Amino acid sequence: MRKWIVAGNWKMHNTISESVALARAIKDGLSNSASGEVVVAPPFTALTAVAETLRGGAVQLAAQNMYSEDKGAFTGEISPVMLKDAGCAYVIIGHSERRKYFSETDDGVNRKVKKALASGLKPIVCVGETDEERIQGVTESVVGRQVQGALAGVETLADVVIAYEPVWAIGTGKVATSAQAEEVHAFVRSLIRKLYGAAADELRILYGGSVTKDNVAELAARADIDGALVGGASLKPDGFLGIIAQMP
Ligand code: 13P
Repeated sequence: MRKWIVAGNWKMHNTISESVALARAIKDGLSNSASGEVVVAPPFTALTAVAETLRGGAVQLAAQNMYSEDKGAFTGEISPVMLKDAGCAYVIIGHSERRKYFSETDDGVNRKVKKALASGLKPIVCVGETDEERIQGVTESVVGRQVQGALAGVETLADVVIAYEPVWAIGTGKVATSAQAEEVHAFVRSLIRKLYGAAADELRILYGGSVTKDNVAELAARADIDGALVGGASLKPDGFLGIIAQMP
């Protein structure tokens, strides 16, 4: 039985004090985490303060990105050692916004995934097609390439989470139907089964893109959807807690 995950990606939102207030409200309001995992990903500047706020509770900390080296002359980058030190358990890697605005490639994503795993961080690897790619009918080849690219040379999947986030559904209010999402999730799981065998049944695959408390139950009811990576709706305690409350 796979444990669900609901993860909030705060993106470039919230000062330290805003982050602490949001984290506290989530920690205090949490009532349904026994059968799953709840994760928040604040901006880097707020990680240590949020870690302190979350201490002793069930909510886990994630970073939104990392670099694939431990230390060195890489101005502006943050290493996995620093993220562990700040209290992170998870790290989001290869979000479509990083691929689009910061030119991240499948190769770079792969280096980060391997480095995260070697450092004891659990990567949440993001994949997903654009609107154009869906219209062209190449969703599976795009997502398949991203998944295989991200996992090249990764031997064990125990700490890996994949997030399927169709780019056309992110921040648009245009959520994928549960049938559309399930189709891609099932495809990803079948690909993983070819590569890793039975470990595919343990892999958590999250859906992301305009998830709210009103649509998450239908998505989460699907066989291969193991939770949600939430942007906008994770920025308000009610929105995020409302999603968590819908999980099985
Ligand atoms: P929205 O929930 O705002 O569509 O964002 C999804 C996302 O990108 C999470 O990583």
